[in-house]
Amino acid sequence: MKKYKVGIIGATGMVGQRFATLLENHPWFEVTALAASSRSAGKTYKECVEGRWAMKTPLPASMADMVVMDASEVEKVAALVDFVFCAVDMKKDEIRALEEAYAKAECPVMSNNSAHRGTPDVPMIIPEINADHAKIIESQRKRLGTKKGFVAVKSNCSLQSYVPAIHPLKALGVDKVLACTYQAISGAGKTFERWPEMVDNLIPYIGGEEEKSEQEPLKIWGHIEGDKIVNCDDIAITSQCLRVPVSDGHTAAVFMSFKDGVEKPSIDEIIKIWESYKGRAQELELPSAPKQFLHYFTEPDRPQIKSERNLENGMAISIGRLRPDLQYDYKFVCMSHNTLRGAAGGAVLMAELLCAEGYLDD
Ligand SMILES: NC(=O)c1ccc[n+]([C@@H]2O[C@H](COP(=O)([O-])OP(=O)(O)OC[C@H]3O[C@@H](n4cnc5c(N)ncnc54)[C@H](OP(=O)(O)O)[C@@H]3O)[C@@H](O)[C@H]2O)c1
Repeated sequence: MKKYKVGIIGATGMVGQRFATLLENHPWFEVTALAASSRSAGKTYKECVEGRWAMKTPLPASMADMVVMDASEVEKVAALVDFVFCAVDMKKDEIRALEEAYAKAECPVMSNNSAHRGTPDVPMIIPEINADHAKIIESQRKRLGTKKGFVAVKSNCSLQSYVPAIHPLKALGVDKVLACTYQAISGAGKTFERWPEMVDNLIPYIGGEEEKSEQEPLKIWGHIEGDKIVNCDDIAITSQCLRVPVSDGHTAAVFMSFKDGVEKPSIDEIIKIWESYKGRAQELELPSAPKQFLHYFTEPDRPQIKSERNLENGMAISIGRLRPDLQYDYKFVCMSHNTLRGAAGGAVLMAELLCAEGYLDD
C-alpha cells in the first residue's frame, strides 16, 4: 500500500514529539517533513529537542537527522507532503492564518490547535462520535477555493473523557452535565522538571479551559445545515477545570441528569451501553482505533491514572464509580490520556478516518 507523506508543524513541542513517536512506524503514514519556528529551522531534529525530549520512548531514529524547516515557508513544506499535522504555540490569529495558508497550498491540515475550532465549516471530529461532520469539508473547500486543501481540528483534551461517556446516553435524554476536570501538566506542554512548582501542588485555574469544555461538545454534537455546522441546543454543560500534579492523564468527575419525563436507564443498562458502544473508527478498524472505545471498571477505586492511562495504547476511555446522585440522576468518574487520545493520538485517528473516507487523496 502507498504510504501518505506527512509533515509535523510544531514538531519540536510536546504534542509534536508525540506525533513523531506515533508516526514512526505508522502503517499508512510516513514523516517526510518536520517544521517549527525560525528558532529551530536549519538545525537537525536531534539538536532541536536535546534537553527537551519529553517522551518515554527514544527519539525516532528515522527523524533524528532530519533538518527542521521553518513552518512559515508553507510552499516549501507543502511540496514535500500529502498533508500535515499541526500543533504550535502561537497567537490564535497567527495560527488561523498559518493553517489556512497550508490548506490553500492544497495541503490538508490535521490541527491540534484551538484557533479554528469555532470556524463553522471546520469539522471538529472525534471519529467514534461525529465522523459524519467530515461532509462539511466540501463547503470549506468552496470557501477557500481549494480542490484538496482544508483544515480539520480535534477538540480540546479536557473533554475527551466525558463527551465519549455521555455520547451514547445523549440519545436517551441526557440534558444536563456538570464536569470537574483534573488535568495533567503535559496538557500545558510541561514536565515536572520544567514546572517544579507543580510538585505537591494544585492550581485551580487553566485559562480558557472551562469555556472550551462547555462549548466544544455542542459543536461535536451539532449538525450540518447548509455550509456550516450548527451547535446542538438540547444539552447544557457546566465545568470547572483544575491543574493537578500528574504527568499525563486527565480525569473528570461527572454528574448527569436526564430530561424530565424520559425513562432513565438503570446502572446495569448504562454500563452495557458503554461497553458495547462502537463508532465509525471501530467499524472501519482504523489502525489507531481502540478495539473497545469505552471501558467500565467495577472496582471502587478505578480508573486510576497509573493503571489506566495507557489502556489500548492510550486511545481508550476509562470509566468507573457510576452511582445515583442526590441532586443529579447519576455521577461517575472517567479518564483519558491527554496527549494520546486527547491530542496527537486523536489527530492521527482523525487523519486515518479522513484517509479511509477519501478526503486526503488528490
Ligand atoms: N499539550 C497538550 O496536551 C495539548 C493538547 C491539545 C492541544 N494542544 C495544543 O497544541 C499546541 C501545541 O502545544 P504543545 O503543548 O505541544 O506546545 P509546546 O510544547 O510549547 O510546543 C510549541 C511548538 O510550537 C512551535 N512554535 C512556536 N512559535 C512558532 C512559530 N512562530 N512558528 C512555527 N512554530 C512555532 C514551537 O517551535 P520551537 O521549538 O521552534 O519554538 C514548538 O514546536 C497548542 O496550540 C496547544 O494548545 C496541546
